[in-house]
Amino acid sequence: MTEQSSALDNLLTESRTFPPSEEFAAKANAGAELYSEADADRETFWAKQAERLHWDTKWTQVLDWSNAPFAKWFVSGKLNVAYNCVDRHVESGHGDQVAIHWVGEPGDTRDITYAELKREVSKAANALLSLGVGAHDRVAIQLQMVPEAIVAMLACARIGALHSVVFGGFSPTALRSRVDDAQAKVVITSDGQYRRGKAAPMKANVDQALDGAESVEKVIVVRRTGDDVPWTEGRDLWWHELVDGQSEDHKPEAFDSEHPLYILYTSGTTGKPKGILHTSGGYLTQAAYTHHYVFDHKPGEDVYWCTADIGWVTGHSYIVYGPLANRVTQVVYEGTPNTPHEGRHWEIVQKYKVSIYYTAPTLIRTFMKWGKDIPAKYDLSSLRVLGSVGEPINPEAWVWYRENVGANATPVVDTWWQTETGAIMISPLPGVTEAKPGSAQRPLPGISAKVVDDKADEVGKGGGGYLVLDKPWPSMLRGIWGDDERYRETYWSRFADKGFYFAGDGAKYDNDGDIWLLGRVDDVMNVSGHRISTTEVESALVSHPTVAEAAVVGASDPTTGQGIVAFVILRGDAVDGGEEAVQELRNHVAKEIGPIAKPRQIMVVPELPKTRSGKIMRRLLRDVAENREVGDVTTLADSSVMDLISSGLQSGK
Ligand code: WT7
Repeated sequence: MTEQSSALDNLLTESRTFPPSEEFAAKANAGAELYSEADADRETFWAKQAERLHWDTKWTQVLDWSNAPFAKWFVSGKLNVAYNCVDRHVESGHGDQVAIHWVGEPGDTRDITYAELKREVSKAANALLSLGVGAHDRVAIQLQMVPEAIVAMLACARIGALHSVVFGGFSPTALRSRVDDAQAKVVITSDGQYRRGKAAPMKANVDQALDGAESVEKVIVVRRTGDDVPWTEGRDLWWHELVDGQSEDHKPEAFDSEHPLYILYTSGTTGKPKGILHTSGGYLTQAAYTHHYVFDHKPGEDVYWCTADIGWVTGHSYIVYGPLANRVTQVVYEGTPNTPHEGRHWEIVQKYKVSIYYTAPTLIRTFMKWGKDIPAKYDLSSLRVLGSVGEPINPEAWVWYRENVGANATPVVDTWWQTETGAIMISPLPGVTEAKPGSAQRPLPGISAKVVDDKADEVGKGGGGYLVLDKPWPSMLRGIWGDDERYRETYWSRFADKGFYFAGDGAKYDNDGDIWLLGRVDDVMNVSGHRISTTEVESALVSHPTVAEAAVVGASDPTTGQGIVAFVILRGDAVDGGEEAVQELRNHVAKEIGPIAKPRQIMVVPELPKTRSGKIMRRLLRDVAENREVGDVTTLADSSVMDLISSGLQSGK
């Protein structure tokens, strides 16, 4: 565990606790008996949770784990995911309930009821069918937070096509590799997006990405900014021209519980992103179950807001699938939190009386930096549950969040999960758990997790090690798209004897047996809650003609959790390594991967620390990046390398 960031040390000395109020507990969806109920019979418990959904055909078996690690949940059951998220709420008499309060960055708004959402999704489904998209086909979606993004995802689900949403901030190269890997037939995008008050092009980047992409037959373009866009006749179609005239009638077909729902790419420890595959029945069951209990959501009463982007799994499970399955009324906001001012989120909370707010530690720390006077200017009294996700939340940020956003009264739920887990796994239950700032605490009822040592033996109270999931769960990934071997290797080989899923996170138990997450133990960085692999950034750097070699580490950062720090060796006489060259390299990485991967700092060095087998010792580079004394260098092939690096940096070379 020596590799873990020292910034997390304070997590381990935190001892404040915040019990739920009696008033909250009395009305809470969850009671303590949920744990005992699940412990008594896990499969019966999950079968009961699956009853939250409408099944056209009931399952015959809850779990089939005979072909582990490839799970089947609710075997032979049939359902339509989009029907569950939209139509059934209209049929039960809630067609007039607002599903989405959409807020555009420039200030335009749109309220969409369930009845309207049903019409839009049906039309979009008919539009996709008219283009020859059918069950099992892949549709790539690169869109900002506009209603069409959600409509497009649900339209795919409705016809059994898989969506692959690609974050709007990803580069053309990143989009292309995802389109190729999934062999997407259709790409859905927009003309441009509003970002910090300005319109930025989107379609032009997509065109660049798709140059020569053979799988793509059609590109559908949502008009948002109205700016001119390049156009490929015969391939490109305006969303409004294609969708608006379609029939509002579309009969949802029931698909198998294991029918693939989507692919979502995430960084692993190599340069190639993994296409995480999720399926239907188990995924929707756990997304809906967790949204109901973890956020204490009450349909028709609460106004919910998850600030994530649909480009990440949080947007999939906690904007689209879980909340809509639970008949949510939610806010969807297009823009950045400080456009046009730093109180934008609180203004929206006040206007729509948001009662459940779910965001990431990096944004909470940004709010802290902007100052508590800003939230204090707004009426936030509607808020009753606050959530956090994406990285370990430091206790100070947790307490600030509760005090300044939650009126020192609301429960704060720190939710641990991953793209791969599909839904929340470890989290307090509001109204039940006595919360501890900085700890995700306990696996949810029905979920099993352990902290183990190298030999897969569970560590005792107060002990630290690796987080594993020792029993299959309904929303677990069903594989990596097109690469079963990588799926086994990445998640199931480390503790193969015991059959544990290796999450890649370090964790420890406190003396009560509560779990504290300590960050990644592999070569994956967490920057503002986004996973980026060190190898991915390294390959981007060495693809630049001036770079001979590169090593990248995640150094602790007060706002973003981790910041990307790169060490590069330049080619012989290529350039001088001055400010301009460094700037050029930072921009190059942004262009190759996306602005989120832009290194915070690049240091030009004469050598890199390597073991005799040639492996870069990132631990030592992290010491340099975090201004610490450099640790043990005895396993280096050349132990003088670190002196060379340190002295070079001090002399400003
Ligand atoms: C990694 C997964 C799950 C949606 C957002 C990120 C870290 C996530 C927490 C938390 C400590 C957390 C882990 C995990 N992480 N939530 N509450 N406490 N760490 O999804 O991109 O798949 O990243 O994010 O390191 O492995 P993701």
